Amino acid sequence: MGKSYPEVEEEYKKDVQRCKRKLRGHIAEKHCAPIILRLAWHSAGTFDVKTKTGGPYGTIRHPEELAHGANNGLDIAVRLLEPIRELFPNLSFADFYQLAGVVAVEITGGPEVPFHPGRVDKVEPPPEGRLPDATKGVDHLRDIFGRMGLNDKDIVALSGGHTLGRCHKERSGFEGPWTQNPLIFDNSYFKEILSGEKEGLLQLPTDKALLDDPLFRPLVEKYAEDEDAFFEDYTEAHLKLSELGFADTKKE
Ligand code: HEM
Repeated sequence: MGKSYPEVEEEYKKDVQRCKRKLRGHIAEKHCAPIILRLAWHSAGTFDVKTKTGGPYGTIRHPEELAHGANNGLDIAVRLLEPIRELFPNLSFADFYQLAGVVAVEITGGPEVPFHPGRVDKVEPPPEGRLPDATKGVDHLRDIFGRMGLNDKDIVALSGGHTLGRCHKERSGFEGPWTQNPLIFDNSYFKEILSGEKEGLLQLPTDKALLDDPLFRPLVEKYAEDEDAFFEDYTEAHLKLSELGFADTKKE
């Protein structure tokens, strides 16, 4: 199975490369990789595989979608990216935000997630309530990620995104980072959740839930032990997330 990506102009491809370089410098300078990854994920994670609505199509910049409870604080991310966005007005917002998400992972020491351009911006924001609720358990995670078209392995690998950043009381009601180095993308999230609660670090109910499930837990253990395995599965899952509803899957 492979994907048939849309053709984009040579000049557009060059702009993607130029934009990627500018994003690397900008995100590094502002130390904002975590919130940029959260922006890319919340943009993509609204996809509904049945109705093909929502997904990584640039709608998250609209006040209506930024006002969704789950997106608290993401107006900051949209604003942080504005100076770079202004340099590349011909990129779709959809491509721009997903490219920024890929760069955020790369420049913090994570894997290089492939990027394919050509997403077309959607007009209609998704309805509220499609992103996960941090107070819930594994059934909820499977419902939410299943609706996107993602599987168990994707859920655990993508949860490793919490290797970056922290919770802010005024945004989500939770407070604190998951790891000792919230600006480094590595497998420490899995090591931390396995080793139990620690002062100064936080685990959401949805993070802890990964330990209680017979299919999730072995993956947590594998990723804690083997960073290469985590990076490999994370790359695959992030690529899928960033391309939900994008390009037709074709049989080879
Ligand atoms: C599995 C379900 C998930 C839940 C319930 C969840 C929940 C949360 C919550 C409550 C916050 C705190 C927001 C704040 O107060 O600033 C947060 C932050 C964050 N999330 Fe998730 N998340 C999930 C999955 C993911 C995924 C799949 C990714 C990316 C691959 C991700 C990346 C991040 C990052 C990087 C931050 C830190 C943002 C910052 O430091 O400003 N999360 N998440």
